Amino acid sequence: MKDRKTMKAGILLLFGASMVLAGSGCDWPPGAGVRYDPDIKQLMTANCFPCHLSVSVSGGVILDTYDGVKAAVESTGLVNAINHNAGYSSMPEGTAKLAQSDIDTIQTWIKNGSFDPEPIDGVFIQPFQSCQGLESGDNLTSEDGLVCTSVAISGSTEENRSFMDYGSCDVVLTQRPYWYKAPFNSVDPSDPRLDNATFMAELNWINRQVRASGCICCHDSVSSGRPAAVWDISAQGVWTDQLSDQGVAILAGKVSSEILGKFTAGNNNGFDRDSTGFPTTDVERVQTFFNNELARRGVTDTDIAEMEDFGSFIVDIIEQPPDECSSSQGVLADGKIYWNSNEARYIYIKEAGSENPGVPPSNDNPEGVLWRLDVMPNVAALNSGEVGYGEVPEGTYQVTPDNGTAPALESGKAYHLYVLKDILIPVGNCIFTAP
Ligand code: HEC
Ligand code: HEC
Repeated sequence: MKDRKTMKAGILLLFGASMVLAGSGCDWPPGAGVRYDPDIKQLMTANCFPCHLSVSVSGGVILDTYDGVKAAVESTGLVNAINHNAGYSSMPEGTAKLAQSDIDTIQTWIKNGSFDPEPIDGVFIQPFQSCQGLESGDNLTSEDGLVCTSVAISGSTEENRSFMDYGSCDVVLTQRPYWYKAPFNSVDPSDPRLDNATFMAELNWINRQVRASGCICCHDSVSSGRPAAVWDISAQGVWTDQLSDQGVAILAGKVSSEILGKFTAGNNNGFDRDSTGFPTTDVERVQTFFNNELARRGVTDTDIAEMEDFGSFIVDIIEQPPDECSSSQGVLADGKIYWNSNEARYIYIKEAGSENPGVPPSNDNPEGVLWRLDVMPNVAALNSGEVGYGEVPEGTYQVTPDNGTAPALESGKAYHLYVLKDILIPVGNCIFTAP
């Protein structure tokens, strides 16, 4: 155990353990996006082990657990020790001071408050980009020692790596519910295709592509540790048998699942989800594989034309047209925004006639949005009348415009107020006249 940790520390030292979170204006976590796991954990592993392990404690300070690091910050002067301030032992002992950027990372984490703002249970966490050093046991190389991952259902880590290592199923599970659903068909353990090397090589490639994506959080029983919903890439045999015909058509890209949102290949490690069900680095190869499966089942284009797009109930929610606002709804004369219910995590003021927002990362910022305010997932929702048009109170961030102030509303003109309790839960949808 200790050997493994020391080895990991060595690897991290070699590549530099810095971690960055970069991305659009709607990143979670807030601020510099520093988290205990992986940022602080990696800094401690690289610089403070093996002197401060639970199994070999120095100076009463334990730095291989979250609680230990927190205690060292609160009561044993960790910040003073790493800044080499007088009256404290200079840390790390016997070697150079940490790089200023690493000290800044630790201080940002502390300053961000409460050592990791924990999201409120059940609240959707927006997709974000996470970059971290190589996990121990990852034998693939990496040019800069960092692996970057789009953390979302439709996001992928780098090719041939696992989303389980570099993404976060905890985040994915806030983005859509998981439940167990039995396969449509069982898998035949004596399927002759199992002896077909060409077929199996292709299936294994498909599995690696799925494993790189957020799909494995619910569709791979072995990596996720939970029974898969319908299809399980770890099922013994040819797992694609488990899919319904519609499921095969979705994965082949013949039935659209666009409504669920997608990254472009450019910001998803080369994985595209434009024209297939799961993100892939080779669209044609995935389509060929699943088109073959459709053909083998005898599913025709006529059958496919009759299938519903994935998530049709989501379409119904999004396409719900607005009502007229009552006189107590909309942006009122006091400049504040009012709607019919109290809780809001997303507030949009849009041009009248513009489309309603859908699922991130791609469908939640339709054209015509003048101003959008999001509430951080670790902060209580906003109440009606609490926030004024263009205001960005603490615990919220302005997504649109991505910088600068909200455009002034023209008095007497009609605008669309769209308020969500959370993604896909509208609590306000009406047209008001600006005061
Ligand atoms: C080579 C071993 C070694 C390394 C590496 C090391 N420490 Fe220490 N640390 C010690 C020892 C021994 C003590 C207790 C004796 C002392 O206070 O000098 C100590 C004490 C401390 C204390 C208590 C300071 C005080 O003045 O009471 C803190 C906080 C601390 N370490 C944090 C860290 C952090 C953070 C790192 C990594 C950035 C780190 N240490 C790296 C050996 C080490
Ligand atoms: C948070 C869990 C979760 C994640 C992540 C997830 N799914 Fe699913 N998926 C489910 C559940 C639950 C069902 C079953 C829905 C039902 O009850 O009909 C399902 C069903 C499906 C089906 C229908 C299967 C069939 O045979 O009809 C397809 C296709 C599918 N998912 C594709 C994907 C793809 C592609 C991804 C990744 C981009 C993904 N899923 C990510 C939970 C998830």
